[in-house]
Amino acid sequence: MSEIKKIGVFTSGGDAPGMNACIRSVVRSSIYMGLEVAGIYQGYRGMLENNITDMNSRSVSNIIHLGGTILKTARCNEFKTDEGMELAYQNIKAANIDALIAIGGDGTAKGAEKFSIKYGIPVICIPGTIDNDLYGTDFTLGFDTANNTVIQAIDKIRDTANSHDRLFFIEVMGRDSGCIALRSGIAGGAEAILLPERDTAIDDLISKLEKGAQNKKSSSIVIVAEGDKNGGAYDVAKRVKEKFNYYDTKVTILGHLQRGGSPSSTDRVLACRFGYAAVKALLAGETRQIVGIRGNTIKLTSLYEALNLHEFKLEEDLLELTHILSI
Ligand code: ADP
Ligand code: F6P
Repeated sequence: MSEIKKIGVFTSGGDAPGMNACIRSVVRSSIYMGLEVAGIYQGYRGMLENNITDMNSRSVSNIIHLGGTILKTARCNEFKTDEGMELAYQNIKAANIDALIAIGGDGTAKGAEKFSIKYGIPVICIPGTIDNDLYGTDFTLGFDTANNTVIQAIDKIRDTANSHDRLFFIEVMGRDSGCIALRSGIAGGAEAILLPERDTAIDDLISKLEKGAQNKKSSSIVIVAEGDKNGGAYDVAKRVKEKFNYYDTKVTILGHLQRGGSPSSTDRVLACRFGYAAVKALLAGETRQIVGIRGNTIKLTSLYEALNLHEFKLEEDLLELTHILSI
């Protein structure tokens, strides 16, 4: 028999579309399974500041379609200290919370693992980040929506790029992860994609663009991930222009609009499945696991394995395909 009577759920780190649908799933799955559930506001900061409230089925009505997170999110450096964690633990105990479900990225998962080890509180993580950079899942919550947002923007830029015969550098999010750049780049028909995980020589990029021009391309689109080692899209555009001035060149930084918006159908379904799986896992006695989807099957991976034993792998074939399809 499970000792768990009350679950605490929170969102932490960068927000991602689908977090609300996931909170809804956690709250309603918990209640369905006879548990109480509390929402912790602003992630770890809410634990420290005792910003915790009991939730019921109606607390999560009419949120399945909303971007952002009704529980708010935050980054909280104090939680990384012994004193911060202790305060968080005292507040969790006072709220009678027996187990936690954390929705967030790898930083959130690292914090959850440490907290669980230190205080013996069961924890299940749900990968919620537009960056798609967690091991143990093919897709994180929010990634699909963010890609859809980006390709809508690329499509619009393509219209004007084509009309004016221009070269556009479009910067997308991903400080450490090139996943959005890669997927949106191939779906948006980009000529080249620059990623944090790969060194792209500016000269190679120029020769690619030169070949396009020789091949009668009147406009071109290059996707630059925010964390690319050449710098942001402005730096890359400037260096390209110094040596290759064939096109009129423009830069667009998409920025935080990529993090907002109504979640796609794919993200909503994922959120519903992840939330239910997390509650079920806690009741089955699991702890320090991350829920994921692999080959359309929900799987658990230990946080230790997900955070320490694997390097996240890019979809290499997509990079290759971009070279082939952009001739
Ligand atoms: P994300 O979860 O999106 O990767 P962050 O990396 O900012 O976002 O992490 C979110 C929060 O998780 C941090 O603000 C901090 O409170 C907590 N956290 C991150 N790394 C650790 C760590 N090593 N130990 C304890 N807490 C951490
Ligand atoms: O949520 C992930 C992410 O969007 C990264 O790709 C980006 O570098 C970062 O968050 C920016 O976050 P913030 O502006 O909240 O610091």
